Amino acid sequence: MIHKSISVEDTLSLAARLAGERPECPAYYLEGDLGAGKTHFTKGLARYYGVDPDLVVSPTFALVNRYGGGARTIYHIDLYRIEDERELTELGLEEMEEEGALLVVEWAEKLGYRRRGDATVVHFEVTGESTRRIRIDA
Ligand SMILES: Nc1ncnc2c1ncn2[C@@H]1O[C@H](COP(=O)(O)OP(=O)(O)O)[C@@H](O)[C@H]1O
Ligand SMILES: [Mg+2]
Repeated sequence: MIHKSISVEDTLSLAARLAGERPECPAYYLEGDLGAGKTHFTKGLARYYGVDPDLVVSPTFALVNRYGGGARTIYHIDLYRIEDERELTELGLEEMEEEGALLVVEWAEKLGYRRRGDATVVHFEVTGESTRRIRIDA
């Protein structure tokens, strides 16, 4: 499915709507350039699960942000700065999955063999100052 987002709010509501269609989805893999809207999409997912979207900030330096207090715990992971297998292992992705938490992974291209088949893959493209082409592969 392709969605042509026309605003930040449009991207947030798209994410919230997708979450509502599949509340038990184990993971979202977000792909696309810097500034394409991956973190803002995550804010929309958070909103659906009852987590304040303002708490959702880019985990580029922390690598993992954990948002509790909502209907589901959300782990927000950014692999942009990950350089090798060891760093990927140290994140403890399996433990997060076993917890039943929702994993939202930016730069999921880097997951390699760790990619799971039941994740929702979302690809972002910048098409204008306030427009984004968002492709969802369920
Ligand atoms: N339609 C849109 N959807 C999402 N973000 C948008 C949109 N239009 C403009 N933006 C802007 O693009 C930037 C997206 O940033 P961010 O979500 O952090 O991207 P990423 O996580 O992919 O690097 C923000 O500055 C946001 O205000
Ligand atoms: Mg980001």
